[in-house]
Amino acid sequence: MNQGHCHPKIVETISNQAKKLTLTSRAVHTTLMAPLLKKLCDLSGLDKGIMMNSGAEAVETAIKLARKWAYCHNNVPDDGGEIIVATNNFHGRTTTVISFSSNPGYKKHFGPLTPGFKEIPFGDAKALEKAITKNTIGFLVEPIQGEAGVYVPPEGYLSDIRNICTNHNILLMLDEIQTGLGRTGKMFAYQYEQATPDLLMIGKALSGGFIPVSAVVGRQDIMDIFKPGDHGSTYGGNPLGCAVGLAALDVLETEGLLENALARGTQLRAGLNAMKSEKITEIRGKGLMTAVDIIPSFGTGSDVCKMLLKKGILSKDTHKQSIRLTPPLVITEQQVDWLINKIAEVFKNP
Ligand SMILES: Cc1ncc(COP(=O)(O)O)c(C=O)c1O
Repeated sequence: MNQGHCHPKIVETISNQAKKLTLTSRAVHTTLMAPLLKKLCDLSGLDKGIMMNSGAEAVETAIKLARKWAYCHNNVPDDGGEIIVATNNFHGRTTTVISFSSNPGYKKHFGPLTPGFKEIPFGDAKALEKAITKNTIGFLVEPIQGEAGVYVPPEGYLSDIRNICTNHNILLMLDEIQTGLGRTGKMFAYQYEQATPDLLMIGKALSGGFIPVSAVVGRQDIMDIFKPGDHGSTYGGNPLGCAVGLAALDVLETEGLLENALARGTQLRAGLNAMKSEKITEIRGKGLMTAVDIIPSFGTGSDVCKMLLKKGILSKDTHKQSIRLTPPLVITEQQVDWLINKIAEVFKNP
């Protein structure tokens, strides 16, 4: 909820657009889709895009684009290509996407799974270099692993993987569905290291939390690989979604939410560190994406999230001993102080 819940400007846009036109046949599109795609290209430094709906659909779309590009343009043997992914990735819940999850719980009873993926440790650029073969299509990765527990890679990792992909002529495919649109304090997390990807997946906050709107933007030669009939979605690029997308981006820019994410994230982690609680083993994060690891004797992440809920804080546990805090980017300095105080109460006196 980067723009907060029910942002009035987006409410106004969605209600106005809902009275005009919400969906067209895919044979035509309105004057709203091009400006939104152009805006996403301008913000990302990429050339062309395609609108989809959910995050997982954007990931599926990027996989299709990358595979066809590799088979048609990069001499990878047809249907024999491999996409490298990171351990503990999270890219969604469709059958292909769960096929390369390292979480057995996401896959159990959902097979047969999709082949063509190879896993390497996250944050280790050398492991990428070693894993590349003549069948490699590209590397699909989150710039900061969210669902895994907000793991920020070592400095230089993003530019290193960018260079490795360029040197081997394979595609860097960044999933910024969670990290993108200001969450980490930049429009996209890769902008911390000028590691512009070849394909970029965007979702979640692209609609300000109103309806599913996602996109893939990428290099022109890759995007042009889709010919009419190769891909599509009834709702992908619908006028309601595009109007909302434009308003959601406008809110991020005009309300200074990137700068706020950076300042409030720093304030939040400083406050958590200052608590010096012996129940906390690690605090990680960037911008307004933070994880707090807790000792097992205090409870599981899920137990602590329930304690926080009683104080009015919505958080989400990940991987048993972690709590993830990803507040809206509209959060104020006073609200962050309140948040730190409430968390301190829980840790002192649950
Ligand atoms: C990094 C990342 N990729 C993909 C997804 C999937 O998005 P959706 O739930 O919209 O399909 C998520 C959702 O949490 C995510 O965090």
